Amino acid sequence: MHTFFNVEDLGCLDKALDEAREIKQNRFGYQSLGKNRTLLMIFFNNSLRTRLSTQKAAMNLGMNVNVLDVNAGAWKLETERGVIMDGDKSEHLLEAIPVMGSYCDIIGIRSFAGLTDREFDYAETIVQQFVKYSGRPVFAMETATVHPLQAFADLITIEEHKTKARPKVVLTWAPHCRALPQAVPDSFAQWMNAADVDFVITHPEGYELDPKFTGNARITYNQMEALEGADFVYAKNWSCPGVTRPEDYGKILCKDMSWTIDSRHMAVTDNGKFMHCLPVRRGLIVTDDVIEGPSSLVIPEAANREISAEVVIKRMLEAL
Ligand code: CP
Repeated sequence: MHTFFNVEDLGCLDKALDEAREIKQNRFGYQSLGKNRTLLMIFFNNSLRTRLSTQKAAMNLGMNVNVLDVNAGAWKLETERGVIMDGDKSEHLLEAIPVMGSYCDIIGIRSFAGLTDREFDYAETIVQQFVKYSGRPVFAMETATVHPLQAFADLITIEEHKTKARPKVVLTWAPHCRALPQAVPDSFAQWMNAADVDFVITHPEGYELDPKFTGNARITYNQMEALEGADFVYAKNWSCPGVTRPEDYGKILCKDMSWTIDSRHMAVTDNGKFMHCLPVRRGLIVTDDVIEGPSSLVIPEAANREISAEVVIKRMLEAL
């Protein structure tokens, strides 16, 4: 595996899930695979889970790990071509990328959507330059449009906690005070479409995700109807994806607090489990009682980030 952005990059999903189960039983079983190999993790944005779980996964595989916070100590990077660099940006991405590639064997990258230019974000302009110019395998640690390590961990968690062969999984929008990217719901939709689940998406009008991720998933503006009989409730905020009105891309269109997941919502599910990728803002996305209650899977879900990362890095090491 040379890149990891989409569910298809893993090949057979059942095999990948088997591999995740095996690694979870024996996370240090492939220590020799990463010996004398270096993972470079590059962060253009903040992180807690991705940083710690991916580093742990690489160390489980015997790798050395370098972590670069681009906005904390590195030279400020220019990303446009054809500019006179007489501002505060000292280095161009097109030199920085191959230099970074020369110090490592595999690159993980986090670079969020700017939410001002849909075309730029949805072309994955920054990350694709790493793929093109680094000379190294590259995996997403959340890019402008995808967060596959999260979606893989989400699927592992659903597999571990499902009580039916084909559970009902509902992705529901929830309110937030800041405009957030669509990467988590995009990937979650893409992965649920590939998994053997009954998948439903619910959000207010105007929040339609890009059809390249939602595929044939059922979509409804009626949240309570969507949640009826759900086995898993996956809450997430996202800003306007600009699918129906490109001029609204990245905007907050709705602050309706009736979408906040509380006991009233969970009551219509079939003993549904609550999921969220974290970090989560309580009182906006979910109430304290739901996230702290017995139905909440947020901690095991976060713990599975180590497993999803280990499967992905292991496969990249095997392909070197
Ligand atoms: N879920 C997730 O990616 O968490 P971090 O932003 O803390 O890495």
